Amino acid sequence: MERVGIGVIGCGYISAAYLKAAKLFPILEVRALADLNHEAAEARAQEFGLKAVSIEKLLADPKIEIVVNLTIPKAHVEVSLKAIEAGKHVHSEKPLGVALAEAKKLIELAQKRKLRVGCAPDTFLGGAHQTCRKLIDEGRIGTPVAGAAFFMCPGHERWHPNPDFYYEQGAGPMLDMGPYYVTALVDLLGPVARVAGVATMLRKERVITSEPRRGETIPVKTPTHIAGTMEFVSGAAVTIAMSFDVPKHKHTPLEIYGTKGSLIVPDPNYFDGRIEIAAAGEEWAEVATEHGYADGNYRMIGAADMAQAIRAGRPHRANGDLAYHVLEVMEAFEKSSNSGAFVEIDSRPERPAPLPVGLKTGELD
Ligand SMILES: NC(=O)c1ccc[n+]([C@@H]2O[C@H](COP(=O)([O-])OP(=O)(O)OC[C@H]3O[C@@H](n4cnc5c(N)ncnc54)[C@H](O)[C@@H]3O)[C@@H](O)[C@H]2O)c1
Repeated sequence: MERVGIGVIGCGYISAAYLKAAKLFPILEVRALADLNHEAAEARAQEFGLKAVSIEKLLADPKIEIVVNLTIPKAHVEVSLKAIEAGKHVHSEKPLGVALAEAKKLIELAQKRKLRVGCAPDTFLGGAHQTCRKLIDEGRIGTPVAGAAFFMCPGHERWHPNPDFYYEQGAGPMLDMGPYYVTALVDLLGPVARVAGVATMLRKERVITSEPRRGETIPVKTPTHIAGTMEFVSGAAVTIAMSFDVPKHKHTPLEIYGTKGSLIVPDPNYFDGRIEIAAAGEEWAEVATEHGYADGNYRMIGAADMAQAIRAGRPHRANGDLAYHVLEVMEAFEKSSNSGAFVEIDSRPERPAPLPVGLKTGELD
């Protein structure tokens, strides 16, 4: 199959994981790297034996078919729109945008130009999550009736070198970590129908404790604790809490409760993890992961699946409709908190097709 040329825009912290994983997918050929800060692109280019160019040059390269957008959240739509306007498909880091209105423009323009939009997270394509999907689809826990999703930590200023963006408007724990949880849930249970939430911001500033900016104070412009309930179209009700305000806790990341049993779903920020299942009155039993992509960090699999889908003429899995729905759901928690009412969710994406069992690394079909 003819390889698909990739251009990466945004060469910060997470780009290393993508560039490492890109080597595992024979369908991908990373042709160029670019960044607003050219030194960042140069540094990654040297590290990975690639070429750093200007953003304009990358967008003008006819051999680049997909732009992988790894910029900061508030630049996602601006950069993705530039890619679409240049006639490229785009796969963006999460979230798709920092507001539903800007994400809508992107989806509409891509549709008009007949180009594809993809978005992280792609961890739901990992072996552990695909096995959970199979268990649910095969009825192993009966009909899912409820669930619980928790990401709660003391804040990213403890480890990220430039944590400012996590506390800007349109960021916070829901837009940062919510995509992993809500995407995994939509993959497992289908779309969300309505949302109720409470969003709080008790601290107005945070002190960086990571290097090199230890001791600097950053302002907080977004809620840092968001809790709520999602009612799925299927009728399942899932409790969620995403927080940068919790020193420590003991909840598991994701659990699904069905009419016949309960399922412990591994952390949706990773590709692997321990799956457990139990019926009422039984002990928890571990379930072995059946699918590939369960033994490492495969960030880039979403873009590789898009590349393969372009050549095969099939839909790609980590797609814009799914990411748009996830953004609509995430935004709804704060809206509900402000209004004191449920927020109805309009978008209704299809569940992405599951990955087959038995794929080797690098294969997607
Ligand atoms: N850090 C992580 O562990 C992690 C994990 C998963 C996903 N992500 C997501 O990846 C994205 C990037 O995160 P990061 O941690 O790598 O951030 P970062 O700040 O380390 O890197 C972002 C890079 O994007 C560049 N950039 C910003 N605006 C730009 C623009 N308009 N055009 C071109 N380049 C631009 C910056 O110069 C910087 O080099 C975010 O959306 C984040 O949510 C991060």
